[in-house]
Amino acid sequence: MDNIGNYEDVTSWNTVILLYNSALKEIETKLQILNDEFQHVHQYNPIEHIKSRLKTPESIVNKLKRRGYESTIANMVKYVNDIAGVRIICSFTSDIYRIADMMARQNDISVLSIKDYIKNPKDSGYKSFHMIVSVPIFLSNETMETKVEIQIRTVAMDFWASLEHKINYKYDGTVPEHIKRELSECAEMVSDLDAKMMSLNEEIKGNEKTYEDMVQGV
Ligand code: GTP
Ligand code: MG
Repeated sequence: MDNIGNYEDVTSWNTVILLYNSALKEIETKLQILNDEFQHVHQYNPIEHIKSRLKTPESIVNKLKRRGYESTIANMVKYVNDIAGVRIICSFTSDIYRIADMMARQNDISVLSIKDYIKNPKDSGYKSFHMIVSVPIFLSNETMETKVEIQIRTVAMDFWASLEHKINYKYDGTVPEHIKRELSECAEMVSDLDAKMMSLNEEIKGNEKTYEDMVQGV
């Protein structure tokens, strides 16, 4: 099917939601397949869990307003990149790059942008790997390239981001200095913990029994 659809012809809210919902399913399935294959080949799950969500109409409209755009379907498709969002939580920082790479290399995925807040954390201390991708959605008469925001982070980074989000929400953006400072200290601890856990894991991996050892030991 090579009838490439055009978003300018998409005028109904329901069609947009159908597309973004389908894009979430496509990305989730791809991730589950990678995780299953990893389990099968390496007896190891790089993905702890996956959360996905569609942005609410209210927050889509707010985002457009904040950026000075009219609330039209054309603007939302063009300017709001996180209508469909998937968050992947991993054990180790190395898993993050492995998963990002495996997704990016798939033929039907186009990587539109990457923000690596692990190599370049935000001033707040926020760390996470963000990727905007598009994935084709095959409808009855046409194919629609649909955007998904993928966030990949470790369990520790996710723990930090959730608390920071909650604090920001509670103080409505004006967080007291001492709390900001302590959050920033926590962010350092998260980085240290992630680095230590990863090196411990690397070390035990070197001493891991092979599958043959395990079978012989039975
Ligand atoms: P948004 O308009 O917030 O979507 O940001 P953006 O378009 O500039 O993209 P960016 O990649 O910076 O952030 C996208 C998403 O990452 C946000 O919607 C949040 O879910 C998450 N995020 C970014 N910065 C922070 C942060 O400092 N703290 C927390 N808790 N989450 C963040
Ligand atoms: Mg967002």
